[in-house]
Amino acid sequence: MSSPLILVNFKSYREGAGNSAGQIGSAAELVMQESGVTIGVAPQFVELHPFCRHYEIPVYAQHIDAVEGAFTGRIPAFTVRAAGCVGSLINHSERRLTIAEIEACVEAAKFNHLESVVCTNNVGVSAAAAAFSPTYVAVEPPELIGSGISVTKANPDIIRNSVAAVKRISPEVKVLCGAGIQSGECVKTAVDLGADGVLLASSVVKAKDPEEVLRNLVSLL
Ligand code: G3P
Repeated sequence: MSSPLILVNFKSYREGAGNSAGQIGSAAELVMQESGVTIGVAPQFVELHPFCRHYEIPVYAQHIDAVEGAFTGRIPAFTVRAAGCVGSLINHSERRLTIAEIEACVEAAKFNHLESVVCTNNVGVSAAAAAFSPTYVAVEPPELIGSGISVTKANPDIIRNSVAAVKRISPEVKVLCGAGIQSGECVKTAVDLGADGVLLASSVVKAKDPEEVLRNLVSLL
């Protein structure tokens, strides 16, 4: 089995911008090299190209738009690909899309050779997202996002049942889980429940020492 993915979303946190973003990038690169565990990052848009150039880690956009041409203020999938990204989040809880937009974004990602990470809020939506055959479905109960309470402890069933629902629809689609992920124990529990990795933000991005948190996250794999 390939390495689980630990995907760190910088959101719009101030700590995820400028020099502090760079510190997280360096820490992710170091811990990935040392541990062999894949650590991806989803920095803020203006940092995508520099991140792709400076760090030997997979870089994801936080969102893409399935548009080309006369549209202003959008993030075309092909631009994300040209910047050097490997993929994109789609339909994050903090950037919700319609079902038609989700499908269009997954198709735009495929067309541009980008991985798609479709975020969902429950088991039913996980199953619906799997029907589009994205690379990943990432299930995150919205009430636990940013709470410091790990989904792996508060709601392991949503992980177990999302994995089962997704595999029933599209066995090749991988599953991530997120919300409150903060330790190696959370990551190990997620993997034991059938997940292919985790999506997380605040525990790394807002940490005094992101490298220490990243080391802890990979420690039990
Ligand atoms: O994208 C990851 C996110 O929504 C989870 O946030 O801060 O609970 O790890 P957090």
